[in-house]
Amino acid sequence: MERTFAMIKPDGVRRGLTPEILARIQRKGYRVVGLKQMVISREVAETHYGEHRERPFFGELVEFITGGPVVAIALEGNDAITGWRAMMGATNPANAAPGSIRADFATTTGENVTHGSDSPESAERELGLFFAEGELLK
Ligand code: TYD
Ligand code: MG
Repeated sequence: MERTFAMIKPDGVRRGLTPEILARIQRKGYRVVGLKQMVISREVAETHYGEHRERPFFGELVEFITGGPVVAIALEGNDAITGWRAMMGATNPANAAPGSIRADFATTTGENVTHGSDSPESAERELGLFFAEGELLK
C-alpha cells in the first residue's frame, strides 16, 4: 500500500469537476484517506512548488494555484503514486493519453486541472504540507 497527494486545482474546482474526479478515483479503487477544500497561502504554494522556483512560469503558477479554492486529497492504494499520475496524464494536455483527466478536461499546461506527487519523497513531503496527521484516516 502506498499513499500519494492529489489535488484538484482552482480551474477544476471552478469548473465543477470535483465530483467527476472523485468518481474516477472511486472507480479506480483508491481509498480517500484525506479530503478538504481550501485556499492555499502563497507560502504553502511556494513550498509545494519549490522545485520550480527558478523556472519562468513560477510566478504565474503561484498566482494560479492561490487564485481560488483547491481540493486536497490523500489517496491510498497499490502503486498509488504512479497510478494517479497515469490517471492524470502528461503535464501538457496535448500529450496526455486519451481518457486521462488532463486529456479529457484540459487544454493548457498552465491550467491542467489536477496535481499528483511524482515520487515517494514528494508524496510524503506534500501530504505533510497539506494535512495534519489527525486529518488522515489510519
Ligand atoms: P511539473 O511538476 O513539471 O508537472 P506536473 O504537474 O505534471 O507534476 O509542473 C508543475 C506545474 O507547473 C504543472 O502542472 C503546470 C505548471 N507548468 C507550467 O505552467 N508550464 C510549464 O512549462 C511546466 C513544465 C509546468
Ligand atoms: Mg510535478
